[in-house]
Amino acid sequence: TLHPLAQPVGTTLDRYIMQRQSAFAYATGELSQLLRDVALAGKIINREVNRAGLIDLTGGMGSENVQGESQQKLDVIANIRFKRALTNGGEVCAIISEEEEDIILTGNNQGKYVVAMDPLDGSSNIDVNVSIGTIFSIYRRVTPIGSQPTIDDFLQGGHEQVAAGYILYGSSTIMVYTTGHSVNAFTYDYSIGEYLLSHADLRTPATGTIYSCNEGNRNQYDIRVQEYLTHCQQQHYTARYIGSLVADFHRNLLKGGIYLYPPTTKNPQGKLRLLYEAYPLAFIAERAGCRATDGQQSVLDIEPHDLHQRTPLYIGAPAMVQSLMDHLQPGL
Ligand code: AHG
Ligand code: MN
Ligand code: MN
Ligand code: MN
Repeated sequence: TLHPLAQPVGTTLDRYIMQRQSAFAYATGELSQLLRDVALAGKIINREVNRAGLIDLTGGMGSENVQGESQQKLDVIANIRFKRALTNGGEVCAIISEEEEDIILTGNNQGKYVVAMDPLDGSSNIDVNVSIGTIFSIYRRVTPIGSQPTIDDFLQGGHEQVAAGYILYGSSTIMVYTTGHSVNAFTYDYSIGEYLLSHADLRTPATGTIYSCNEGNRNQYDIRVQEYLTHCQQQHYTARYIGSLVADFHRNLLKGGIYLYPPTTKNPQGKLRLLYEAYPLAFIAERAGCRATDGQQSVLDIEPHDLHQRTPLYIGAPAMVQSLMDHLQPGL
């Protein structure tokens, strides 16, 4: 029997969002509209991604972002598209993006929400037709409505997210999000231009047999992480690593696995960014039954202090994360 709030597979995303809104009496509709804006921006990026090779959208911009990474053309375009969609919608007063150093003021000071985003995740895969994604994280602002938003609105901590999600531009395009209850996935149907509910109330398997990390960095990992990888190999686990966090996370979420991005010599704090990579995926992960840790504490418990701070990330099936922790902190 279906849960009273559950909806059948095939429901459109718009209808789903509207029905959820009426089910939760507190909702004023702004968050619903914001989620629809994100979904729409996702459709536009999806279009650009699909024809990138035809319209000279592959390759680098020749510029660097605040992280010192070379920006790809699609990084820049996705950033512009999302900013535009979120600004036009009116619900968002400020944005932070991987591609911009400072907070982006939309001018909608009446807006109740702020959004942290990785407009395009998996840059190195853009030019080679491999899956890439978008990650977003939504907070209710803490500064007074009507005033100019500040970075305090973004440095609230992972538990304060009101919604988080990602769009994966893969062999099909799929939007996965949660507002803190269940995690649901909507596959984009090109023929009708709509996202349709394809995976209701996603739950990850309790354990799995996939491990995902950039094993080229193995010698740079802490010896205990290396020992855990040896354990994975002794168990005959399967190695799968795409190099797009969104895609690696999504596969492991569905199949059961663990994703690791430990500190390396090049990135002693880890490579992934807390506010628009680790927090949103950890928020989804926990709602789907996964665990997410930086090796010391739950990712959602990490204290935020910088818009672009990095963190080690270990995320996946709970039994696998526990086994990793047993290696990292023997005796605890
Ligand atoms: P982004 O493309 O948004 O900068 O993110 C890159 C991240 C993530 O997508 C991916 O999982 C990871 O970098 C891959 O890093 P390595 O190439 O070091 O494995
Ligand atoms: Mn980047
Ligand atoms: Mn990324
Ligand atoms: Mn990115």
